[in-house]
Amino acid sequence: MAVLDILTLPDERLRQVSEPVQVFDGELQRFIDDLEETRRAGPAAVGIAAPQVGRFQRIVILDVSKKKNIPNHGHLVLVNPEITHWEGFEIGREGCLSVPDYTGNVVRATRLRLQSRDREGATLDLEMEGFEARAAQHELDHLDGLLFVDRVVSRRTDLFRRKVYQ
Ligand code: NI
Repeated sequence: MAVLDILTLPDERLRQVSEPVQVFDGELQRFIDDLEETRRAGPAAVGIAAPQVGRFQRIVILDVSKKKNIPNHGHLVLVNPEITHWEGFEIGREGCLSVPDYTGNVVRATRLRLQSRDREGATLDLEMEGFEARAAQHELDHLDGLLFVDRVVSRRTDLFRRKVYQ
């Protein structure tokens, strides 16, 4: 396994729209293992998306289970995920491995339904809420070339420079 390089702003490749995965082969499994190792190497990242390491396929890893007392599905590998239902909205603070110097306040749906494949190609049908739903929306945005800085409520008052990534 290997820790992969993470693309950071202003790298234009982060703006690329990723393609669906067609083949669930051994090469894909090795890539997913590398992506997971890269997520773990990062500072407290709850998620990572394939385009962040320059692979423009619709693959996301999500794991918010380390946060205390929030509903979650544990460690998820989502391949070709689609959000099929949204409900409610709330503002919350987000950060991103590709935007190391800032956090920002972003409006996201509070509940959602998500259909996806897992790493073997099996179907997943998940309902998410709260922080896990927020993290899923953030990671899926990467697959369409969107970053949280594109969605901050106000660039003037809702972007915050961070001293240390944590
Ligand atoms: Ni991100």
